Amino acid sequence: MQNLMQRLVETTAFIKKKTRVAPYIGYLTGTGLGESAQSMTIDTTVEYRDIPHFPLSTVKSHKGRMLIGKLGGCPIVTLQGRFHLYEGYSPLDVTYPIRVMQQLGVKILLLSNAAGGLNPRFNSGDIMLIDDHINLTATNPLVGPNDDHLGNRFPDMSHAYHPKLITLAEEVAQTAGIKCQKGVYVGLTGPALETPAEVKFLQTIGAQAVGFSTVQEVIAAVHGGLRVLGLSTITNVHNPADPIPASVEEIIAVAQNAAPRLETILKGVAQKIYETEIC
Ligand code: HPA
Repeated sequence: MQNLMQRLVETTAFIKKKTRVAPYIGYLTGTGLGESAQSMTIDTTVEYRDIPHFPLSTVKSHKGRMLIGKLGGCPIVTLQGRFHLYEGYSPLDVTYPIRVMQQLGVKILLLSNAAGGLNPRFNSGDIMLIDDHINLTATNPLVGPNDDHLGNRFPDMSHAYHPKLITLAEEVAQTAGIKCQKGVYVGLTGPALETPAEVKFLQTIGAQAVGFSTVQEVIAAVHGGLRVLGLSTITNVHNPADPIPASVEEIIAVAQNAAPRLETILKGVAQKIYETEIC
């Protein structure tokens, strides 16, 4: 097996041959949110299965496609579908797309996910700007020898979710009349959903939303020097005193319903980034 850097060189060379766009933003979509790329101008579409060394998503609601083009004028690479620890992927596999984005020259990572609400004031369908995370997956993509070409051995995580990007997203949402929540996302491996006792525990440790993705990718992105903006769609709200079973179909339906609002925010953010950083 080739080492990570050798694989990245081959993957990146393949993608670069397919497009003249040099993406500044990378966007990783979550459950039921793969649609939220509709306002993109697409230059190139590549199926994951055609990309050398790229993992394949086993999750039905994930498309498994890379789109390269523009959003709000800003060059962007959108990944429709991500990889999860619960699929059996290692932290290195889960974060491979982030490393590819980093090698493509991406500077800002946007992430969306579906999450369970832990804050009783949240409603299903709310969008939450992630302002911090708790990694409860008991693993970390940086375990093992550090490749100094990719980042520092001990990356600082004090501002993992970039404060200026959060403010920008808040401004864009407010202008568009979209109400946003803000809070801490706790990442677990899943795939079993949380028991009521676990929900109480997660509330106690200061989390507002829970999900099975994002934390590995954000750690790799911060390690790679990317600025991160993360948005959760709250697809169900947990109430440990009166637990209501959550269905995957409902989670996907709520996420799809929120996708246009998410897209409005992301497009506005991309546009502002384009206006203020690139030209
Ligand atoms: N738990 C974990 N992941 C989720 C949930 C949940 O309740 N809802 C959507 N994704």
